[in-house]
Amino acid sequence: MIHLENIQRRYVSDEVETTALADIDLHVEAGEFVAIMGPSGCGKSTLLNTLGTVDRPTGGKYLFDDRDLAALDEKALAQFRGATLGFVFQSFNLIDELTIEENVALGLAYRKDDAGKGIGDRRARVAAAMDKVGIAHRARHYPHQLSGGQQQRAAIARAIVGAPKLILADEPTGNLDTANGEQVMNILAGLNNEGATIIMVTHSPSHADMAKRRIDMLDGRIVASAARAL
Ligand SMILES: Nc1ncnc2c1ncn2[C@@H]1O[C@H](COP(=O)(O)OP(=O)(O)OP(=O)(O)O)[C@@H](O)[C@H]1O
Ligand SMILES: [Mg+2]
Repeated sequence: MIHLENIQRRYVSDEVETTALADIDLHVEAGEFVAIMGPSGCGKSTLLNTLGTVDRPTGGKYLFDDRDLAALDEKALAQFRGATLGFVFQSFNLIDELTIEENVALGLAYRKDDAGKGIGDRRARVAAAMDKVGIAHRARHYPHQLSGGQQQRAAIARAIVGAPKLILADEPTGNLDTANGEQVMNILAGLNNEGATIIMVTHSPSHADMAKRRIDMLDGRIVASAARAL
């Protein structure tokens, strides 16, 4: 599914150059669950944002299902993201002015496959996604009325409502207590068991152990990649 070759990302600000990613080679197959670990500043978020096409590499090649993403303009990339990817962030990133079900429905914004079939399909999908993460009883609430764990589950519902090929999660349990973090991890592991491909950044070794492969980064490079011992 994912093929990164020699990916580089350099930032230049005030004539200071930072290499966030140096020579990243990475292959991820459909159905994998990959955890990315490494110290603060080693490039984990930059790698995830590059995979999510919200950040463009300054060098190298990114193929997604054999398609070269460098060839796409911003509009095509936005469409690609909307149709293919689901994002989960440490800080949930729900929209405060929208209800939980409206937030979840945003995950269908770029979905075209049920256009013309009426609102029924979309409603049913949103309901199913909320159900899956145990948030349906909060559908009409606003984000600030929910606990952190509930907000993150709502964010996961938004990420999965369009049945994305790939879920990208950047420290999804970083703002949660142990119990809620575990609940979110169990949801992600369940989604992976059902076939979802997941790439997740985490600082938690025990959460990384729930993935099927662990990648360690240091100074913008991948320094280790190991399948979990079963
Ligand atoms: N917009 C930017 N401009 C300049 N440098 C940046 C920018 N974004 C990130 N960097 C630098 O790139 C490097 C990698 O940052 P990144 O956010 O990917 O780290 P991280 O591994 O996700 O860290 P953390 O665990 O703290 O989230 C850091 O040195 C950071 O300062
Ligand atoms: Mg980060």
